[in-house]
Amino acid sequence: MATKPKSKPLPDVAKLTKAQAKVEWKRLALALEGHDRRYYQEDAPTVTDAEYDALRRRFNAIEARFPEFVTADSPSQKVGAAPSGRFKKVRHAVPMLSLDNAFAEQDVRDFVGRIERFLKLSDDKIAFSAEPKIDGLSMSLRYEGGELTTAATRGDGTEGEDVTANIRTLEDVPHRLKGRNVPEVCEVRGEVYMTKKAFLALNKKQVEAGEAPFANPRNSAAGSLRQKDPGITASRPLGFFAYAWGEMSAMPEDTQSGMIHWFERCGFRTNPLTKLCHAVEELLAFHRLIEEQRAELDYDIDGVVYKVDRLDWQERLGFVSRTPRWAIAHKFPAEQAMTVLRDIVIQVGRTGSLTPVGKLDPVGVGGVIVQNVTLHNEDYIKGIGGDGEPLREGRDIRIGDTVIIQRAGDVIPQVVDVVIDKRPNHAKEFHFPKKCPCPLHTDVVREETAAGEEGARARCTGEFACPFQKIEHLKLFASRRAFDIDGLGEKQIEFFFEQGWVKEPADIFTLAARNDKIKLGEHEGYGETSVRNLFNAIEERRRISLERFIYALGIRQVGETTALALARGYGSWAAFHDACLKVAKADEEAMAEMDALDQIGDTVIQSIAAYFGESHNRGIVERLTREVIILDAEKPKSNSAVAGKTVVFTGSLEKMTRDEAKATAERLGAKAAGSVSKKTDYVVAGPGAGSKLAEAQKHGVTVLTEDEWLKLIGE
Ligand code: IVH
Repeated sequence: MATKPKSKPLPDVAKLTKAQAKVEWKRLALALEGHDRRYYQEDAPTVTDAEYDALRRRFNAIEARFPEFVTADSPSQKVGAAPSGRFKKVRHAVPMLSLDNAFAEQDVRDFVGRIERFLKLSDDKIAFSAEPKIDGLSMSLRYEGGELTTAATRGDGTEGEDVTANIRTLEDVPHRLKGRNVPEVCEVRGEVYMTKKAFLALNKKQVEAGEAPFANPRNSAAGSLRQKDPGITASRPLGFFAYAWGEMSAMPEDTQSGMIHWFERCGFRTNPLTKLCHAVEELLAFHRLIEEQRAELDYDIDGVVYKVDRLDWQERLGFVSRTPRWAIAHKFPAEQAMTVLRDIVIQVGRTGSLTPVGKLDPVGVGGVIVQNVTLHNEDYIKGIGGDGEPLREGRDIRIGDTVIIQRAGDVIPQVVDVVIDKRPNHAKEFHFPKKCPCPLHTDVVREETAAGEEGARARCTGEFACPFQKIEHLKLFASRRAFDIDGLGEKQIEFFFEQGWVKEPADIFTLAARNDKIKLGEHEGYGETSVRNLFNAIEERRRISLERFIYALGIRQVGETTALALARGYGSWAAFHDACLKVAKADEEAMAEMDALDQIGDTVIQSIAAYFGESHNRGIVERLTREVIILDAEKPKSNSAVAGKTVVFTGSLEKMTRDEAKATAERLGAKAAGSVSKKTDYVVAGPGAGSKLAEAQKHGVTVLTEDEWLKLIGE
């Protein structure tokens, strides 16, 4: 590869002609993007940090000499969640660990009971520092000789990223520790966070600038830190609360509360709600008090933390695997919030279903700012449930109403009630549209249920002619779980569709060949590099696994799990396609064969029959298969320890993404489910696991840490 160190030294940047510099700039831009991707996303760098730094220095030197080369998508300009400038990795002198979670009061009593037994003391003798659990990013600040030398993110707990330059812009982080006689080495740890107010203001700006808004203050704090321009971090108001420490060459205090006061004397902010408690009842009262204040606080918290105050006792108590025995996070249950419903809009989905979406005055719930809420269907808005039963005691939802919304864990927000007392006179009843908002304005029909009755779901009758449905299908096609084409997100699909360049999936693969006419590089938002990257990303995806291909077809009822079951059942595209064509012709043998597959039932078969019964669809599929290579399905390893087991992943995983974890589980013959039930065999819980972990405990399901899971599957 061009970025390997060469035997011949590269010419001095100062001596390059402009034309040579441009060629070199392009080569470096591409190389840096590739290295960033391998380093950050694939965790598989192919160069050393020193080699990478040398490339970046040369790249920066070229841009400094020829500022006219700098484009919006140059690797020097990227900001936001996807980091561009690469940060050095920092090994933590003392690992940054996480906390065990408590949900019910009994969990807290058990925690205190364990400590009493361990220390052979009664709880009135044990003081606890009770602190809000800030929902931000943990940070380790290293001071040597009182000077800030390194700021590192948590990373995997052992190794984080060096974000010193960005952290230096935070007002709450002193560059020099105040006070005399500070220990030679002090690692102060705590949480970087963004206030809710700053988050809303930032998102407003993002949207105005045509950028994607952040999902919650935590993400926006992370995005603000993990980008390479400290000027940007400085423009985003981030706060820092100190609450813990790593390596200390000497301990200035012998209690947690003493350390917190010491942090203050050093010039840090600590959380003002922190309180010393002396018995379990006091801890529980603290939890209730903080929960009451939660909505009014200008920063997100997701629970409270209790820590044994005496440090000598902390030391005696020690750790159980990666969590301390002397501390616990007492999480808050699902949060509710009250806000006003400003409007109801209709969204047309990929399969033409019309979903009413409520537009809310933005409100923070469970750590996320919620602005949209699904209102499911016409009946739901009227206060009628799926079986005709009254919802919210029959109260309907009107535009202008004050509503109570709830969000629990990863679950999408729901309207739990309408506050009738607050209904204004001008509140407007919502009339579900009779015509689809798509440009065809086709009739809207309510779907039939399996029993042949009128269902609640409304559908546009435009089918293949409906541009909304076409766009939604293209979005699904390019999405992460389907073809996963980098740089072909929802915005780009909409743009390409509007331009008439991509009307169906096969068109994506002929884009590059048609670019002489299209000239994508001349359109706003595209530079040469991004066009090349997009075409490369498309090329890379010409080879596709059978299950992804089936999923990407967008057949109703065929989600990822079903696609996987079909891929495994038929093994190859030829076999599957042949079966589908026969099923579409109601071939009984083919139908029986499909029905015999694990997890495939009548609804799926009917849906496949309808899809392949349509000549328009057969055409789309045929043109697409000429462009791609569909790989045969991997046979599941049936001898794996988890074959046939059901596993649920929850919380944040550190060694793999949630999708990767699910994919591995499925490859090994396990079923990765979304919710916990009695049938679940394992729950793999990472930090931040919430209601699913509680469910697992309720059902007595085996709970594993990520490492235990990896050991079980032998990875
Ligand atoms: S103490 C050994 N105190 O929660 C554990 N953590 O689940 C040291 N957090 O990664 C952490 N507020 O990011 C501690 N007052 C607090 C906290 C807190 C938020 C976060 C922190 C940590 C996670 C643990």
